[in-house]
This record gives sequence, C-alpha cells and structure tokens, in this order.
Amino acid sequence: MTPQPKLARTRAIVLAAGLGTRMKSRLPKVLHPICGRPLIDYVLDAAELATGARPLVVWSPPVEAVRTAVAARADTARQAQPRGTGDALAAALAELQTAPGAPAGELLVLSGDVPLVEADLLEALLAAHRASSAAVSLISVITADPGRLGRIVRDEDDEIERIVEAKDATEDELEIEEINSGLYAFDAAWVAARIADLRPSPVTGEIYITDFVALARADGRSIGSIQVGDDGTLDGINDRAQLAEATFAMQARINERHLLAGVTMLDPTTAHVDASVVLAADVTLEPNVILRGSTRIAEGTLIGSGSQVFDTTIGRDCRILASVLESSEVEDAVQIGPFAHLRPGSSIGTGAKLGNYAEVKNSRLEAGVQQHHMSYIGDAQVGARTNIGAGTITANYDGKRKKRTTIGPDAFIGVDTMLIAPVELGAGARTGAGAVVNRDVPAGKLAVGVPARLRDPRPEPDEPPDQRSPA
Ligand code: UD1
Ligand code: CA
Repeated sequence: MTPQPKLARTRAIVLAAGLGTRMKSRLPKVLHPICGRPLIDYVLDAAELATGARPLVVWSPPVEAVRTAVAARADTARQAQPRGTGDALAAALAELQTAPGAPAGELLVLSGDVPLVEADLLEALLAAHRASSAAVSLISVITADPGRLGRIVRDEDDEIERIVEAKDATEDELEIEEINSGLYAFDAAWVAARIADLRPSPVTGEIYITDFVALARADGRSIGSIQVGDDGTLDGINDRAQLAEATFAMQARINERHLLAGVTMLDPTTAHVDASVVLAADVTLEPNVILRGSTRIAEGTLIGSGSQVFDTTIGRDCRILASVLESSEVEDAVQIGPFAHLRPGSSIGTGAKLGNYAEVKNSRLEAGVQQHHMSYIGDAQVGARTNIGAGTITANYDGKRKKRTTIGPDAFIGVDTMLIAPVELGAGARTGAGAVVNRDVPAGKLAVGVPARLRDPRPEPDEPPDQRSPA
C-alpha cells in the first residue's frame, strides 16, 4: 500500500508586522526578550508543535528585524505596510500561493504577541474547527476586564455573529465580557476566496482579520469556537506592563519545571533563570539570582544570593556566593566569592578557591589554585595549587597589546605583587611582598623588590629545623 497524502495539511501563520507603538521601543515588539528568548519564539514553538510544520511569519519594513530573527525556523511573508491584521493575513496568503508543494487545507493564525499560548490549546482549536467544518474558528476568553480587546457579539441564539474592535464598539458592545484572543483556524480555500472582500474600518482605517467572522456568517458557513477562562495565558503583549506580567508567568513555568526536576529554590519568585539554562538535580538557588544564556550547572552546586551567571558552565558541588560569572568554565568543588568576578574566557580548575574581590579574565587557573583577596589575574596561566596573594595584579596591558603571564604549579605569589607581562614564573617560584616582577623567575626561585631581583628562597619557617639548609 502506498501512504496516503495528508489532505488537510495545516500551516501556521504568525502575524508580527505591527508597529507595537505602545511598547515605546526601538526594538520590534515581538523581539522583546522573555526569559532570554524573543517573545515570538514561544509562539513559534507552540505553532510548530500544533501543526508539525514550519510556520510562516508576517513582517513589515518598519520591523524588518523580525524577518532575520525568525529566518532560521520560519518562512516569512512581507506586508508592505502594517495596515491591520486582515492585510497581514493577505500578505501571508499571497506568499503561500507561490509556495511549492501541496497547498495547505487549513490555516492556524496566531498573533506573534501571545507568548504564553500552549500547543495543546491550539490543538483543541484545530479539533473544534474540524469537528464543525467551520470556515473560521476562534478562541474566546471570558474576562471581567475586556479592556481594549475585540468583543465577541452573539445573536439571540447565542451563536457568534461578529467581532467588534473596542475602538469601533458602541457603549453596549463595550460591556461584553467575552473577548477575541486573536487565535484562529481557517478553511484555507474559503479564506483565500474571501480575502479581497475585507474593507478598512471606517473608524480606524485598519483592515481587520476579525471581519472574517461576519463574512463566514454571511456565507452561511459555521463558526467554530472554544471558550476559555481568563488565566492570562492568552494576553497579548502590547506594552511593558504586559511584558513584565508575561515574563513573571513564563519564569514561574520555567522554575516549576526545575523544581520538579530536583532543583531547590529558596524563593522561586526571585530566581531569574533563562529558558535555555540547564540545571542538574540538587542545585540550590538562593534568592535573587540571575542565570542567563547557555549556563549549565551540575549537581550539588549552590548559587548564592546576588549571583549573576552568564553563559557559564559550573561543575558539581561548587559554592558561588554573590559573584558575577561571564562566559567561563568552572570545574567541580570550586568556591567563588563573595564578590568575585569571572570575566569571559576564564577556566577554573577543580577545588580552586576565589575569594573576596578576585577578578579573573581570559585565564586558566589549574586545580587547587587559591586567590583569596582583591586581585586581578588576566591573560594568564596559573599552575596547580599556586597561591595568589592579596593585591596581586597581572599588568597585562601596555596600552596597546595584551600580554600573557605564566605561573607554574605550587608557586607562592606574595601580597601586592605586580606581574609585568609577558612574564613567566616557574614551578614553586615565590615573590616577596610588593615585588614588581618584570622578568622571568625560574622554578624554585624567589623574586623580591622593585623591580624584583632573584634570590634563593629561605626555607619555610614551619619546616622542622633539621630540614633547614645551613645558614
Ligand atoms: C487584536 C484583535 C483583537 C483581539 C486582540 C487579542 C484585530 C483587528 N484585533 O487586537 O480582536 O482581541 O488582537 O490580543 O485583529 N499585525 C500585523 N500587521 C498589522 C497589524 C498587526 O502583522 O498590520 C500583527 C501584530 O504584530 C500583532 C498581531 O498582528 O502580533 C495583533 O496586532 P495588534 O495590533 O496587537 O492587535 P490588537 O489591537 O491587540
Ligand atoms: Ca495585541
């Protein structure tokens, strides 16, 4: 038997060409991030899941950045000017007509500004649409606060008659508490045949997609619908207050997923964790932490209050206290902070300890390195178990170029040492307090003074007397 071709192929269309003026932003509305992703990405996720196909996004020249932002995962259609949602759909239909392959039988049309929408609701809409062989189907919301949303007007038999936009509505219509969510399913052939019949609103001059409801009724076609309560998940983002509310709700969703997977959060309402962050079981997040981008944290690690971690991998059983970590790697059992700063390109070996006001940039600290107090290590390689004294500075920049510092294992850098790069200190090398080291220190040697001179180190004071070398 040959497989049957899918007849009612569903395509999702995501409208994202509007200006979003109420955001008062130079960034297009649908590209504002929520938990680290442009908010339209969540709509595209739901559209993909519900249809199993690549969505089509409508953009317009004033918001051209939308086109590039979605290009990897969606086809795009250009709306010449954002003249309204009906005109945006017309742009999508024109694009679909030229698309290769079998035409779609039904269209799922979504606003790009409803990031909390979930695929199962869209699937329910498609199911209702098919069950009623409707020309158009929609999701309506019962709400005590219909605000500026389109109102669903029903007839005496409680059948949906039309949608009236708030700006065009009468006083009586404004009282209606059933609103249009802006999510629709369409019979593709019918909507293509009727798209030229939309007329601009006499009030606003905009062309409304919502007018298809009255057109379906005029054609004697059924109008499918599902009705949901107002839990905020279908709220469009039109201004920054709504953006903040949606961010809060999305963060709660993300955090719930982590909590159920074994992450402890002392205050989930203040744990700001991007959608992309990966957390293992038994990670603990104290209040007020920010975890962004490609950050990954392994089992048993504690992220203390006030920490901010960007694009950083952290190993097991670490303690990160009130510190900022950027684009770095941290191995297991490392302690960082309070008030340390890993700048991009840092790599911290197992069991290392970085304390108060330790700054590291583009450097490798091998296992067991200790850098306890206010110091700067940049463009450096530091060997295992080496101790960096308080106030140590790698002077890595001569005003023109960055230069490297290399320190061997088991070295002891005395307090207030200045390491003038390029410079290399061998295994077990030591520096005295206040040394300004502008040339290499061989293994086992001591460098003291300004500029530093080389000495043979004196024996450790706590070594037993019989192991001391003769005076
Ligand atoms: C729209 C609906 C309203 C509904 C509400 C739900 C219309 C006329 N009104 O109103 O009934 O209650 O959504 O949130 O459809 N867009 C374009 N091109 C345009 C204009 C808009 O692509 O020319 C896009 C926008 O980028 C946005 C979506 O369509 O993603 C909705 O537009 P928006 O201006 O937010 O419509 P609302 O006024 O919220
Ligand atoms: Ca909207």
